[in-house]
Amino acid sequence: MAARLSAGAATASVLPLAVAGHACAAAGRAYAAKPRRATATSADVKTESVTGDASLGVHAAAHGLLYGCAVNMNALGADAAYAALVREQCRIVVAENAMKWGALRPSAEGFNFDQADALVAFAESNRMKIRGHNLVWHQNNPKWLEAMATEANARELLVTHIETVAGRYAGRMHSWDVVNEAIRVEDGRADGLRNSVWLRLIGEEYIELAFKTAREADPQALLTYNEYGIEAETREGEQKREAVIEMLRRMVARRVPLDAVGVQSHIAAAATVAAGGNKSAASQVGAGLMRFIAAVRELGLQVFITEMDVNDRALAADGPGRDAAVATAYRQYLELVLGDAAVKAVLTWGITDRYTWLDHEEGRADGKAERPLLFDAAGKAKAAFFAVREAFDQRGAAS
Ligand code: G3I
Repeated sequence: MAARLSAGAATASVLPLAVAGHACAAAGRAYAAKPRRATATSADVKTESVTGDASLGVHAAAHGLLYGCAVNMNALGADAAYAALVREQCRIVVAENAMKWGALRPSAEGFNFDQADALVAFAESNRMKIRGHNLVWHQNNPKWLEAMATEANARELLVTHIETVAGRYAGRMHSWDVVNEAIRVEDGRADGLRNSVWLRLIGEEYIELAFKTAREADPQALLTYNEYGIEAETREGEQKREAVIEMLRRMVARRVPLDAVGVQSHIAAAATVAAGGNKSAASQVGAGLMRFIAAVRELGLQVFITEMDVNDRALAADGPGRDAAVATAYRQYLELVLGDAAVKAVLTWGITDRYTWLDHEEGRADGKAERPLLFDAAGKAKAAFFAVREAFDQRGAAS
């Protein structure tokens, strides 16, 4: 079993948030932690300003933070109101899909940079920073890769991809998710590495190879390891955190170029909050995550909240508490993690409910659209917007 994370790094209270990830987390113990103050519901949210000095980007920057979101490139080109929303709120953007293998590599021979170039152009014309996502993943790989990659050619395929993609935008990127989601404890390896195509064909050194190639291709980008499912105060969450931190410690010890860790933060509003504190099970977020963030900081790395959203699957469809519970989840989670100075950026995985990826996932049992983000489908700021802004403001002096 990997060494335990150092104790005492944080004594955070345990928050009644479920952690959904894109692989739903198991429910944990139910604590009846009460929200420290009521969060306005979307029904009674005042129509105060949310742009200019009232925007998330400005409030985040006042406290040493970058705020931004993942951008849906189809929407960016087709929906002017969406583009305006991203422009008004964000200081940093990341492509939701446009910089993945699946989008960039229609064939083994060619690259299609149309959407990636469009995002870079949009960001640079609006003086935004850019995150790249992602250079190596087990998902969204084109069919030709799975068909033709072998132990003999996999290293070259990986190196060529990273050199070409990271090299194209060298000097223009804030950071790259170089390797995404490399840990899956359930796969049974002592080191917890996921049994991905890259591990099978190259071995565990694919991780070091990817980061070294990315550093050579773009010496200025902050090279990031990005992971989900490390938030929950559950046995599974702790096991995954331990496997991730052990991998990071090995990388740092071997001087693998690495600058930051992305905590994806796909969480869920716990029914305990929405339903006035009833005891329905909900996994927790708290001390384990803060110990992990402290351990990452002690390795000299930055921490980015890279993909935050709060799914509301567990909440009654039309109860007054639905949007308020989502807002409370944002505020409680961010007030917790922003307590550590290593956290330098917060990106939500989208910005308006209209384009959330969650509606293409298992979704709500009642089939209704999810409401996980900060603006509703009509582009109106929700209680979650004000809760996130409050959490930024609570951070105190810029760290
Ligand atoms: O663009 C094609 C379209 O041409 C085709 O007709 C359609 C139907 O097959 O698929 C479209 O591609 C979809 C793509 O999103 C763009 O909409 C893919 O099928 C679909 O799998 C892909 O889902 C994305 C998913 O990652 C897998 O890449 C989600 O939008 C995206 O939000 C999600 O994001 C991930 C992060 O990258 C990593 N962390 C977890 C997070 C949530 O799963």
